[in-house]
Amino acid sequence: MTSHGAENGIYAIDFAGELAVKASHTGHVLEELLARQSGVPDRLREAMRYMLLSGGKRIRAALVQWSCEAVCGRVSREGEVAAAAVEMVHTYSLIHDDLPAMDDDDLRRGQPSCHKQFDEATAILAGDGLLTLAFEALAGETDSPETAVEMISMLAQAAGPAGMIAGQMEDLEGEGLAGSMELLERIHLNKTARMFAASCGLGALAGGATDGQLEALTRYGQKIGLGFQIADDLLDVSASSEQLGKTAGKDQQQGKLTYPALAGEAESRKIAERLTEEALSALSCFGPEADVLRRLAVELPDRKK
Ligand code: IPE
Ligand code: IPE
Ligand code: MG
Ligand code: MG
Ligand code: MG
Repeated sequence: MTSHGAENGIYAIDFAGELAVKASHTGHVLEELLARQSGVPDRLREAMRYMLLSGGKRIRAALVQWSCEAVCGRVSREGEVAAAAVEMVHTYSLIHDDLPAMDDDDLRRGQPSCHKQFDEATAILAGDGLLTLAFEALAGETDSPETAVEMISMLAQAAGPAGMIAGQMEDLEGEGLAGSMELLERIHLNKTARMFAASCGLGALAGGATDGQLEALTRYGQKIGLGFQIADDLLDVSASSEQLGKTAGKDQQQGKLTYPALAGEAESRKIAERLTEEALSALSCFGPEADVLRRLAVELPDRKK
């Protein structure tokens, strides 16, 4: 790649291995948090587990944990719970994103989408359940009430009506429109990058970050989130459904505003690479403790699923 990473140790990292460790840890915390809920009707529990424990990449959960480690050298209880909470909110967003009234997608994470496996009402409620449980977990598992309020507020703003939901609304309203780069950037920022930024921000808070560290990690998260969604748009055009575990070619079919549609594939790749550079500069106040985050930034534009 370019000047940034080769001189340090980022390529020595077994990135896939590190991600697998974080993903597996989050899986255990999710199991634990779900198991503690009594009184959940069987079918609802089954639908929540079906999507939550079905092998997402767990990138956002890893971001929480790596950001926490970059700040304090370990993953605190707050950090592992925040990682699980972010994954619950993300999974809810996918369940709803796939509904017939939204993107109408039958395949998710390599298996039938939640509403296909169960039914629409159950899928809506499973999403609602995961969204709410995320906040219960953050409220109940944080040592300091101040940190709990900060974390809850950060996640709520990122996922809420001026964040991810705003992005989802404008994504749907944008279907079939010519659109502008400005609108597209706003959609991507809201529907995807806000949750990436919050993942890093939550990890930073969980690690006891200074204001400067929190700002740096949040900026990093926003940049890689934008790059991640550009890669998602590119993969929708170039990859197969088998590779993605979700239906390929869907964006064009639905007339979505995407980077390849508006800027072309080559220009989209350039923008994604520029975002990687910007993400790396955001981490300049960190040393090798942020190398795994640097490596993620370099990997993202070339991801294959
Ligand atoms: C898919 O996210 C939705 C987007 C914001 C592009 P991921 O690609 O992280 O999905 P999973 O969690 O791995 O299934
Ligand atoms: C999804 O964007 C963003 C959220 C779920 C918030 P997409 O609609 O592009 O995601 P995929 O391609 O279905 O995973
Ligand atoms: Mg969508
Ligand atoms: Mg979709
Ligand atoms: Mg997509």
